[in-house]
Amino acid sequence: MNIDLAGQTAIVTGSSTGLGRACAIGLAAEGMNVVINYHSSKEEADDTAEVISEAGGRAIVVQADVSKEDDVARLFQACADAYGHLDVLVANAGLQADAAFTEMTLAEWNRVINVDLTGQFLCCREAARVFRRQGVHGHSKSAGKIICMSSVHDEIPWAGHVNYAAAKGGVKMLMESMAQELAADKIRVNAISPGAIRTDINKAAWSTEQAMEKLLQLVPYGRIGEGEDIANLCAFLASDVSDYITGATIYIDGGMMLYPGFRFGG
Ligand code: NAI
Ligand code: BGC
Repeated sequence: MNIDLAGQTAIVTGSSTGLGRACAIGLAAEGMNVVINYHSSKEEADDTAEVISEAGGRAIVVQADVSKEDDVARLFQACADAYGHLDVLVANAGLQADAAFTEMTLAEWNRVINVDLTGQFLCCREAARVFRRQGVHGHSKSAGKIICMSSVHDEIPWAGHVNYAAAKGGVKMLMESMAQELAADKIRVNAISPGAIRTDINKAAWSTEQAMEKLLQLVPYGRIGEGEDIANLCAFLASDVSDYITGATIYIDGGMMLYPGFRFGG
């Protein structure tokens, strides 16, 4: 199996930290030109770019809020200016704003829907337009690949996080409907749905021994995930090795989707 991504270009949203950073570094290691998008942490974005260039890769850094249409247009224009073409979008940027359902404010609801769902719509729409214009152009068997960063919570209901679960559930249908609509253009659309992976978004769930012990009750495989686990899957979905896969959600979760409570009863 040869994951050959040399000369292809990827935009990875929200890639100054966490899973986006890991995917950007992983794709660059496979030879891709990478656009590192960040919202507010320029220093961390520059650091991601530095890691890539020190390893011999190519990266540029672009600030943009994925929930704003003009920012997204500017992000894709910066990619075109720097590299001239685009092959992969990793729609990764996301956040949580947790609250008990009856306490959740409209602002908390909107914030998560705007970034985690509308942000994916805006970035995917822009990518699909570029891919359609380019067509199949020699770098890959497809005209382009979209990878949506979803979550096990596109399937597992999550008390205290209804805004987030609703957004990720929305991402699932967004991804599948796009895949259906864009397949004739040779555009592949898939989702990565991680379980608990060690990043800032869920630090409270793994950073103390007690919290980790509780979290691991939900993970039959007995460890939480690392950025590299996601980056490896991302490179697979970006490459022609997965050319016949579209509209798929790949759960990467150490078994979190397997009703772990049933190990002890039922
Ligand atoms: P993170 O907090 O390290 O990364 C999220 C990134 O998105 C940050 O760099 C943040 O600045 C960026 N971002 C937030 N709002 C933005 C905006 N409006 N415009 C552009 N960028 C923005 O957390 P993590 O874990 O790396 O999250 C990445 C994605 O993975 C998210 O979509 C999250 O929902 C998803 N995910 C994470 C899991 C985990 O266990 N870490 C599990 C399942 C899904
Ligand atoms: C959330 C994390 C959580 C994981 C598993 C992700 O979508 O962002 O906070 O640890 O799902 O529940």
